[in-house]
Amino acid sequence: MPPDYFVNFMPRSYTMSKPKRYTITAALPYANGPLHVGHIAGAYLPADIYVRYLRLKKEDVAFICGSDEHGAAITIQAKKEGITPREIIDKYHEINKDTFKGMGIDFDIYHRTSERLHYETASQFFLDLYNKGVFEEKESLQFFDTEFNQFLADRYIMGTCPNCSFDKAYGDQCENCGRTLNPTDLIEPRSTLSNTKPELKPTKHWYLPLNQYQDWLKEWIVEGKGQTEEWKKNVAGQCRSWLEDKEGLQPRSITRDLDWGVPVPLPNAAGKVLYVWLDAPIGYISATKQWAIDKGKDWKPYWQDKDTKLVHFIGKDNIVFHCIIFPVILKAAGQYILPTNVPANEFMNLEGKKISTSRNWAVWVHEYLQDFPGKEDVLRYYLCSNAPETKDSEFTWADFQAKNNNELVATLGNFVNRVVVLVHKFFEGKNPQVPITDDNVDDIKYLDKQDEAYAKVGAYLDQYDFRAALNEVMEVARTGNKYLTDNEPWKLIKTDPQRTAKILFNCVQTIGHLSILMEPFMPFSAKKLRDLVGMEADDCKWEAPDIVVLPGQQLGQPLFLFEKVEDEVILKQVEKLHAPLAALPNEQSNEPTIAYQPVKEPISYEDFAKLDLRTGTIIAAEKVEKADKLLKLTVDLGFEQRTIVSGIALHYQPNDIIGKQVTVLVNLAPRKLRGIDSQGMILMAEDSEGKLQFVATLEHCQAGMTIS
Ligand code: 2FM
Ligand code: ZN
Repeated sequence: MPPDYFVNFMPRSYTMSKPKRYTITAALPYANGPLHVGHIAGAYLPADIYVRYLRLKKEDVAFICGSDEHGAAITIQAKKEGITPREIIDKYHEINKDTFKGMGIDFDIYHRTSERLHYETASQFFLDLYNKGVFEEKESLQFFDTEFNQFLADRYIMGTCPNCSFDKAYGDQCENCGRTLNPTDLIEPRSTLSNTKPELKPTKHWYLPLNQYQDWLKEWIVEGKGQTEEWKKNVAGQCRSWLEDKEGLQPRSITRDLDWGVPVPLPNAAGKVLYVWLDAPIGYISATKQWAIDKGKDWKPYWQDKDTKLVHFIGKDNIVFHCIIFPVILKAAGQYILPTNVPANEFMNLEGKKISTSRNWAVWVHEYLQDFPGKEDVLRYYLCSNAPETKDSEFTWADFQAKNNNELVATLGNFVNRVVVLVHKFFEGKNPQVPITDDNVDDIKYLDKQDEAYAKVGAYLDQYDFRAALNEVMEVARTGNKYLTDNEPWKLIKTDPQRTAKILFNCVQTIGHLSILMEPFMPFSAKKLRDLVGMEADDCKWEAPDIVVLPGQQLGQPLFLFEKVEDEVILKQVEKLHAPLAALPNEQSNEPTIAYQPVKEPISYEDFAKLDLRTGTIIAAEKVEKADKLLKLTVDLGFEQRTIVSGIALHYQPNDIIGKQVTVLVNLAPRKLRGIDSQGMILMAEDSEGKLQFVATLEHCQAGMTIS
C-alpha cells in the first residue's frame, strides 16, 4: 500500500526507464559543530539506507557528501573564539567524518569545500554562468557592522518585526509570526555581533534571476513535466507555496561580502565570495570529481547522463535550495541532469523541545558512540523507526529504551538466539540436513512470506518510506518467532526429529535472509548474522535465492544480537541532557553564538554574606541628560526610597518600567554618576547578545524583602 503522502497529490503516471547509475547526495553539513540525532535522522541515515539497498541490488552508485566549510557562521564563530576559520573546519571535518563512519554511514567520498578542486570547480561554474549572461549585477544597500567591520548576513541582524512587533525578529524571518523579511524591514535593527545599530552601505552583487525561471519551475515541479517520480507531499507542498506566492520568485544574490569562501572570480570583486548556497551544492559535483579521480572513473555521466538518477537527501530547511535554486543553476548551466527526487525529511524534536545547538539541547552523535559502544544499530533502528518522514517526530530516551528492549531484544535478537540455541542443542550447531521437498502448507506459507519481504521492503524503499520498510523487516522476525512458537521444535524433537530439522533449517534460512534485509538499516548486526551463518558480504544480494545457508553449515555460538538497556543508563542520559548548560565549543548552522562568560574565582560564604540584596519596586524613571545609556530610577525598598542610576536606557523606556519589581544591592557604596548620587545597584541578567533583563522573584513580593 502506498504511504499516505503519495495519495493523489499530483496524479500522473511516471515512465522512468531503469536508471543506469545513481548519484546520491546528502546535504553537506557545516564543519563548525558536531552532528546531533536530528541531522542523522533527517538526511544521512535515510540516504545511507537507500544507498545500501542500491548496492545490494548491485547498482552503480556514487554516494556523495562532505563538509561545508564556508559561510558567515564559521567566520563569526572564529572571530568570537579568537581562532581562524581553518582551525574550526579542520577540527569538525575530522569529528564529523569519524561520526559518520562510526554510525556506519558509508559515503563513497566525504570531501571538503576548502579543497582546491572545489575552488576550481565552483569558480568555473560561476564563470560559465557569468559568461552566458545568466546573472544580473546590482548595487544595493546592505547592513554593515562598523565595530566588527563587516557586512552582516541576514541572520546576524535583529530588530522589531514590522508585522507583529516581536523585538527579536531576524533579518530574514520573524520567528514569532513567521513573516519572511528583508533586513531593512526591521524596526530598530541591531547587529547581533556588537549589539550596535548597523549602517546601510552600498555594495555590488550578482543575482540569480529566479523570476525568469518561474514558469519552467512550475511546469517541472507543480505539473511534474519532465519528472519521473512522485515527490513527497511535504516537499512538493513547500515548493508550491514558493511558486504560487503572488509576489513571485525574486532574483537572489549568489555572492556575499566576506573574506572566507570561494572568491568571486572577476576583476574588481575583492572581498566578495560565492554565497554558500551556490558553493555548497557545487560541492556535490567537486566531491564527485574527486571520487572519480580516486577510482579512475569519469565523473561526467554521474551528473550529465540522462540515464542517471540524481537524488538529494536533505532536511526540510534545505528544500528551497535543492528544489528551486540549485535546479535553476543546473538548468542555466545546461548539460546537467536535474534531481529525480528530493526526499526531504521534517525535523526531529527532543524530549518535547526543538533540538537547539546553542542551548545544548541535543543528543550529540559522537557522544552517543562513546556512551553506547557497539550500539550503533540501536540508534540507527530508533532513528529510522521514528524518522520525521511526513511530519516532525520526537526523540525521547524512554522511547529509545522501549524500542530497544521490546523490539530489538524481544523480537529480533530473541528469534536469532532461540534458533541458534536449538540448532546447537539438537544438531551440534550445524544447519540441519533436510530433504528440500518436504515442506508442508505452513512451511510454504512461511517461506513465501520471507521471499515476499524483498519485494515489500524494496517497494517502500523505492518510495523513500524507510519507516514502513523497516517495519516489514521486523515482520520477518515476528513471523519467525510465531513459526517457532507454533511448531514447538523443542517438544517435537522427541517425536519427529526429521520435521524438527526441517523447521530449524527454515529458521536458519530466515536468519540468512534477515542478514540481507537488515543490511541497509542495521549493517553492524547484519554482519554479525552473516558471520553466524557463514555468509559472505559479496555473495549477498537483494532478492536472494530461497536457500542462503547450505545444509551442514556450521553455525557460530549462540549470541544476543541486542541487549537490554537498563533504566540507570537512560536516567544518566536524561540527566546529561538536563545538566546545566555545558558551554559548547562551537555552533552549528546560522544560529547566533552564545558566548558564555567564564566562571569567576571562588569566594567564601563570608564574602557572599556581605552582599545585602533586597527586593524593590521602581516608582519613577527618567533619562539622564547627555548619557545615552543611563536612567535615573527611584526605587522603593520598603524601609526607604533610593535614587539609583542604572545603565539600562538602551533596553528600556522610562515609562515601561514603572512598577517593575527588581533586585537591589543596597549596601554598595554610593557612587556619583553624571553628577547624580547613585545609592545601590539593580541586578540584571545579560544574554549573549547583550540584551538585559531584570532579575526578580518569580512571585510578586513586597519591596524590602531580604534575598540570601
Ligand atoms: O544547511 C546546511 O547544513 C548547509 N551546510 C547546506 C547543506 S546542503 C548543501 F550541501 F547543498
Ligand atoms: Zn513578526
